[in-house]
Amino acid sequence: MRWPAEAIWEAIAPLLPGFTVEILPEIDSTNTELMRRARAGQAEPVLLVAETQTAGRGRLGRGWHSAPGASLTFSLGLPLAPADWSGLSLAVGVSLAGSLHPAIGLKWPNDLWWEQRKLAGILIETAAIGSQRHAVIGIGVNIAPPPTQEGLATPAAALRELLPGIDAPGALLKIAEPLVRTLLAFEQTGFSPFAARFQVRDVLEGREVVLSDGQQGTARGVDETGALLVHTAAGLQRVTSSEVSVRPRPPLKT
Ligand code: BTN
Repeated sequence: MRWPAEAIWEAIAPLLPGFTVEILPEIDSTNTELMRRARAGQAEPVLLVAETQTAGRGRLGRGWHSAPGASLTFSLGLPLAPADWSGLSLAVGVSLAGSLHPAIGLKWPNDLWWEQRKLAGILIETAAIGSQRHAVIGIGVNIAPPPTQEGLATPAAALRELLPGIDAPGALLKIAEPLVRTLLAFEQTGFSPFAARFQVRDVLEGREVVLSDGQQGTARGVDETGALLVHTAAGLQRVTSSEVSVRPRPPLKT
């Protein structure tokens, strides 16, 4: 596969001194690798792309499986020092959706959705390097529908349904520079300036949701920190991404 490593480097190096782009044919997980490097003290900003991951990871200890050629899997590692980290994954989602297609929805806290199916996922991890905080932003985007989707309750969505002919390098070219600009803006301002852009893509708005702690209610958007607002029997609850996962409640069987 031909990757636009040079074009991406030229766009991003002026924003992030010391930035490099690396494309690997295979690795366990781009997030795992950048966390290993951060723990070993490597603080320079890097965008690491893997054509194949043998142990891709998702949120909440889940795996992330992707067929070679059918997905874009990469991580961006960089020093980041926002005053408040809350809402970072939502801001990243806003950036990705904005770079890819106006019709892409966002499912709190950090999934990209298209027509009720998951299109992309985000896994953010941080490590301390000396007194600095280092962020690893991992992104997996389904590009082409995988050949088999056994074991998945709902088949995944693929970017080619929205952008016929797009491939993983083309998607990365659209995503990378705006993502870095988003992270630098977030570092300065936190989540609040992103809230309105999240809201217009919020697929949970007004829907009945079940929280993993058992609470149920109606999703009512996010606040200025990125917390999900859920109207429950006990009143309006603020839900933070570290506490719960959310899934739309299945329709009642009649
Ligand atoms: C999720 O939806 O649970 C998050 C999925 C994140 C997957 C990406 S693929 C590139 C990076 N490396 C990983 O092991 N995970 C992230």
